[in-house]
This record gives sequence, structure tokens and C-alpha cells, in this order.
Amino acid sequence: MVLPNHGANAHHVYERLGIEMPEVVIDFSENVNPLGPPAFVKERWSTYAGLITKYPDPNGEPFRSAAAKYHNVSVSNVLVGNGAAELFAALAKRYENKRAVLIHPTFSEYEATLAPYNVYIKEIMATGELSLDEVFDEVEFAEVIYICRPNNPTGYLIPLETIKQIAEYAKRYKCEVILDEAFLDFIDENESFIPYLKDFPNVIIVRSMTKMYAIPGLRLGYAVASEQIVNDIRSSMPQWNSNAIATAIGAECLQEEAYRNQAITFAKEMREQMTVFLEKWNCIVLPSTTNFICFQLPDATRSKAFFTYLLAKGCVLRHTENFKGLDGKWFRVGMKEKPQMEHLQKEMTAWFEENLSS
Ligand SMILES: Cc1ncc(COP(=O)(O)O)c(C=O)c1O
Repeated sequence: MVLPNHGANAHHVYERLGIEMPEVVIDFSENVNPLGPPAFVKERWSTYAGLITKYPDPNGEPFRSAAAKYHNVSVSNVLVGNGAAELFAALAKRYENKRAVLIHPTFSEYEATLAPYNVYIKEIMATGELSLDEVFDEVEFAEVIYICRPNNPTGYLIPLETIKQIAEYAKRYKCEVILDEAFLDFIDENESFIPYLKDFPNVIIVRSMTKMYAIPGLRLGYAVASEQIVNDIRSSMPQWNSNAIATAIGAECLQEEAYRNQAITFAKEMREQMTVFLEKWNCIVLPSTTNFICFQLPDATRSKAFFTYLLAKGCVLRHTENFKGLDGKWFRVGMKEKPQMEHLQKEMTAWFEENLSS
């Protein structure tokens, strides 16, 4: 039985497994900020309605300038996308008939977007420590390497120094580096590679507004790269690719510093609590830096039974069957608000007591 690939839209998992969906379902497979969008979005919602009567700015203003200001880069270095997902699709065309390196386990969209372009994909498996030598060996022959930082689904953050080493080596061999920083907002801007782009015209950073600002339905993301790369990618994208409401709201989101700090503190607190809970039951928990964690049961052969038990109880975890190297033996849990995390722990405890203690 092949389970649906993505997190969110939980009803697909229930349908596929033939499990009746309980009336109340908490979707822990989603990994957006559980605190919801910044308050101004609801408060000023009616003011955005007027925007739909005109075509939006073709370059994603006012968001493009706001993002440039936020990162202290020039507007010409920012490319606005209909979610980071659109940017990955546009980027993939650059590598048609070329060679790409992916480090697994990682976000499935890199491979999915490269698939239509006859890209030869070299996979590096790094469920444990990443071997820099292996990366260097592959980069020499590739046109691009994709790095998810922090990584989805493990939450692991490759150190900035290591990224600099990879970017330097890649530059020497004319290999581009796509750095996906979709979850970096949950750590600290000081961890971003954006300030180093000046020295690395071969690096393209992709950011998403979805995760931190809890606006997956609006669709807003952006890339930060050299002006030449921005123009190249933009030329293959549709006119008016980002919508007026998303770009207006996105520009204001970037001013929400207190909101961001609260989300960072909250995600840290929730993942630490969840880690303590899971480790108490001898689960293996990967050290995450962001708003989800990845764990394995002490007996991974029981993973499917555990997953379906929780589904029946209305708790949806992210299975990992389509993440290479994790192969369904691990689960990803997105952090939610306290009562929901407590509810999950209660349901997990019931299963652990039945199945782990004997
Ligand atoms: C690592 C990573 N990058 C990018 C995206 C896509 O983000 P967006 O909603 O901006 O398209 C996701 C969505 O799950 C993701 O997990």
C-alpha cells in the first residue's frame, strides 16, 4: 500500500488506508506555525478584498522590496514565487539533461520537479553524519546540488561553515547550490546563508513564507540569488505568478518581529517537551532545530500498527515511506499548541503501555 506523499490534507491518508476519519482530527503531519497567521491578517482581512479587482504587480511588489529590505539585499536579487514550490519547478528547468546531487532523506519536491527534465540524479544518503568527501566527489561532476537547511524531515541543520565549504568547492567546479531555507525562520536569521551570497554567485537561496507565517493557502515564497540568476529564472516563469493578496500580506508579515520570536520560543519549548516524552519511552529522536521532530519507535517493526492506531484516534503523524533512507520506520511530528501536544502524548501513552512494556 503506497501512502500519499505529502503532509497535510489528512483525508487522503484515511481514504488510502480505508480507515474511517474521526470527527476530530489533529494533523501533526502539517508543519506550519501552530500559532496561526499574525493577528493583523484577520483584523485587516476586508482591506485586502479590493486588491482582487486589479492585476497584481508582475514582480511581486510590495513583497519583493520588503523581502530585499528584510535581508538587506538589492531588490534585483529577489525573485518572488507562488510558494517556494513554484520556484523549485522553475529552477528545475535550468538543469535539463544535466546532473544534480540530492542528499537524502530530504524534501521530495526536489526530485519531483527535476523528474520531467531528464536530469541525472546522484543520491547521497546521509541518515547519519554527512560525508563532505562524498559531497565534494559528486559536486565535481554536477551542475547543481540541493541542500535543505534545516532539513525536512530530520530537522538537522548542516553547520554554516560546512555550507561555506560546499559552496566554495562547488564554485570551483561551476556547480550551483540550491539552499532551501524554508524552515530557517524557526531558528535565527544569523544562521541564514543570505549574507554570504555576495561571495557565492553560484548559490540560490529559496525561502518560504508558508511555514513561519502559517499561510500555506496564500502561496508565497522567494529566492535570493545573483541578479543574473534571478533574471534567468524569472524569464521562464508566468507573468503575474504571485497574487496581490499574498504579496500585500507577505510584506507586512516581514515586519512581525515579536510574532517571529514568540514562534521560535514556542517551537523550541514544544519540541523539547516532546523529545523528553518520546525518549522516556525509549524512542530514538533526531536532534531537530525547527518546528517538527523526527522519531523512531524502539521496535520499528511496529511502526505501521502505531501509525494506524493513532489515525483511528484522530492523530495524524507524517509517515516517512517516501523519504529515502527513512523508509516508513520514522515519523515526523509537527509542533502544535500545548493541548494538542498533550492529547497526542495521551494517545501515544495508551499505545506504548499496551505495546511496549510487555
Ligand atoms: C523543505 C521545504 N521547502 C519548501 C516547501 C514548499 O513551501 P511553499 O509552501 O512555500 O511552496 C516545503 C513544503 O512542505 C518544504 O517542506
